[in-house]
Order: sequence, then structure tokens, then C-alpha cells
Amino acid sequence: MSRIVYVNGEYLAEEDAKISVFDRGFLFADAVYEVSAVLKGKLVDNDAHLKRLARSLGELKMTPPATGEEIEAIQMELIRHNSIDEGVIYLQATRGAADRDFAFPKNSIPSLVMFTQKKSLSQNPAADVGITVITVPDIRWKRRDIKTVGLLPASMAKQAALDAGANDAWFVEDGFVNEGSSNNAFIVTHDGKIVTRHLGTEILHGITRKSVMELAKRENLEIEERPFTPEEAAEAREAFSTSASAFVMPVVKIDGHVLGNGVPGPVSEKMRKLYVEMAMKG
Ligand SMILES: Cc1ncc(COP(=O)(O)O)c(C=O)c1O
Repeated sequence: MSRIVYVNGEYLAEEDAKISVFDRGFLFADAVYEVSAVLKGKLVDNDAHLKRLARSLGELKMTPPATGEEIEAIQMELIRHNSIDEGVIYLQATRGAADRDFAFPKNSIPSLVMFTQKKSLSQNPAADVGITVITVPDIRWKRRDIKTVGLLPASMAKQAALDAGANDAWFVEDGFVNEGSSNNAFIVTHDGKIVTRHLGTEILHGITRKSVMELAKRENLEIEERPFTPEEAAEAREAFSTSASAFVMPVVKIDGHVLGNGVPGPVSEKMRKLYVEMAMKG
């Protein structure tokens, strides 16, 4: 049975779902998105994802395609239709279809597309062994705090990592690590402090980042929100990344430098465990 997706008010088999060739998401990447995790059939941190969606829409002066409650109802319906126990829900809102013109159209109707992806999140073999990352120049636009679908630099960075025999890439700008290709970047110093870049327009304000930091504070772990260099990262005791689709992912090698013993560190493992426990509770 094919996957059921949602497009502008309709639940359709994926092969029947259609969007206009004039949709501004397609022509200009004039669109924002969110990815929420599903565990045990329940959405994880979804209120925060919907809040960030509203902010992204506001920053781009885009009409919301639906209210938060309506979006959540559609998400739940997709979980049900596709029997998702564990996986993610992708949602994309665009400024809608209009004849191609750079200026924002006056009366376009926003588009809303959503689909599910089944994925094992709580059990992930990559998290057991840790991943390797390379650093790449951050060639993205300057408003990374808005979650737009303009993801070509992220896709290129990920591919560069795979071509180099690594798993992921961290973006570096002015000598400092901003974040990963699709995640926030953390290191753990030799005196046990968790370090991650402070919020600003340079990075996406990760929902998982925030939850993980709250969990770390509850454990009385010290957190520093500040820039760090690729050299500091390569010398760190541990490193990890956070995202809705991979939770907490231990990093064991950066630019060829093995961290610690080359296996996931205790802080990374603890944060992953705590986050999965929190997410399982719903
Ligand atoms: C560039 C970037 N940074 C960080 C994140 C992590 O954000 P979240 O934890 O909200 O998934 C993502 C997720 O897609 C991302 O694309």
C-alpha cells in the first residue's frame, strides 16, 4: 500500500499528490519547513516545532497555511493513515503559486504539504558507534535562523562529507563552527563542559538543542554557549550533534582527529539516553 501524503486539504496516495509548477517553493525556495519526530505514534517536541514554524513564516511575511491546531490534527491523521510508530513528519509551507515574478504575489494562497517517513529513531546503529565529520566553509545565506527549504549548501556539504569517507559536515565561518549540515554541533571539553554556539542568525535554533540543554542543566552539567573553532573541536574530549531526526548523535572523529578513545563519550551517551527517555514519555 502506498504512503498517504497531505497536499492542500487532501489526503492522497503519494503517486497522486500534485503541486503547481508555479509554486514559489519550487521556483524560489520561497518556503519554510519543519521536521517533527514520532515515537510510539506520538509527536516529540511538536509545540516547539510549530512555534518555530510560526516564527519562520512571520520573518518571511508569509501567510500561515493553517493554525497550529489544524496542522497538528493533520500530522496525527498522517500518523494514523501510515501506521507510523517511529519516524518523522515533514511539513512544508510555501507562499503558494503565482506567475513567476520576484516580488511577493499579493493574493497567493499558501501551500501546505506534509508526509511521513518511517525511521528507527530510538535504536540507531550509527549512535552506537558514533559518526565522523569533516568541516566545510559555510556558504549558506545569512538568515539560518529561518528554516527555509533553500538547502542546496547543506546537501552539498553532506555529499562532500560522504565523498570524503565521512558521515556529516560541520559548517565553519570566520574560523568558528556554526552547526552541522542538518543539526546543531556540540563539543565536551576536557573539564566536562558542554559547549555549543550561541543563538543568532548564524544557526538554526534547534528544538532538540534546546531540550538537550535543559536536560543537561537538570543533570547539573555546565553549558557554555559560545563559538568554538574546528581545532578546539578536534582536541575536545567528546562531540555530538542534535536534531529531531537523529536526536543526540555522538561524533567520534573530526577532520581526521579521533576524539578520546574513538567511541561515543559518556556525556554524549548520557544526553542521548536522557533525550530518548524524555521523548518516549511524550
Ligand atoms: C541547519 C540545521 N541546524 C540544526 C538543526 C536541528 O534542529 P532541530 O533540533 O529543531 O531538528 C537542523 C534540522 O534540520 C538543521 O537543518
